[in-house]
Order: sequence, then structure tokens, then C-alpha cells
Amino acid sequence: MNAQPAPAAAAVSDIVAELLAHHGTRQDQLLPVLHGLQDSVGYIPPDQVDKIAAHFNLSRAEVHGVITFYHYFRSEPPARCVVQICRAEACQSMGGDRLLDHAEQALGCGLHGHSADGTFALEPVYCLGLCASSPALTINEAVFARVTPARFDALIADVKAVTEAA
Ligand code: FES
Repeated sequence: MNAQPAPAAAAVSDIVAELLAHHGTRQDQLLPVLHGLQDSVGYIPPDQVDKIAAHFNLSRAEVHGVITFYHYFRSEPPARCVVQICRAEACQSMGGDRLLDHAEQALGCGLHGHSADGTFALEPVYCLGLCASSPALTINEAVFARVTPARFDALIADVKAVTEAA
């Protein structure tokens, strides 16, 4: 359930250079480059924005505007463990609010926040296709259904055991 560690700065630079060379200079290729970068590195490193902007003949502000417009893009490394709690109707009606309250308390952060040590990020998600087995959540993209607060604690304890051993 662990997220991949981000590559070193030199490797990031190589990844950006490769993506830019692959996608060419047409401005409609900006989004594919940003997606490719986030897929490879886990986020859009701010120190790469100037290079990307110059490649597409855009200003840094224009590229920054695209990055901040799409909530999908991150400008900082992701937490090692991303917990997404379903906030859609079926889960809410089956204890999703209680689960979220518990998760916020257990992780010490609200939705869109990080735990104090940066290990966990808590995010909303809207329907995981498990409405009949709600409430549901994901931990680093692994899906869990019928999650009670006690089960949540057990899942988080498992993650902590793995991350501490790594
Ligand atoms: S509403 Fe939560 S899985 Fe569908």
C-alpha cells in the first residue's frame, strides 16, 4: 500500500526532458506533459515549471495557472499514504460521516490535509462503485468496503507497520 518514493532531482530533470522531447512544442501537449510528469514523479516540481513554460513558449504564470486549475495536479510530493474516503450519498447514509470524523481524528487532519508527520493525506472521493458495501475508502488505491472506525484503525495500523519497517 506504499506510494513510490519520488525520484532524485537529476532524474526528474531527465524525465521532464524526455516528456518534452516526446510531446513536441504544440501547446495542446502541455496537459499530456503535466500528466506524464505527475504519473512519473508523483507531483509537478515547481522548479521544472520554467523549463516546461519555455518549451511551449508560455509564461510561467500560464503554466502555473493550468497546474492550479486542475485539482488533480500536485505541486508538492504526495504523502506516502493517501486515504480517500467516499463522500457520495450511499456511503454517507451508511456511516460515511462517522467514518470521516473518525479518520480526521485518527490522522489529525481534515479533508485535503496531511497528518503532522506527512505520512498520510486525507482526500474525498465520490463513489468507488461499492455502494452496496458502503462505507468505502481507498488506501493508496487499494479499495476497502464496509469500513467501520475499528476497521479503519486496523488498516492504518497495517500501513504504519509497513512504512515503519521500510
Ligand atoms: S457511494 Fe460510496 S461507493 Fe458508491
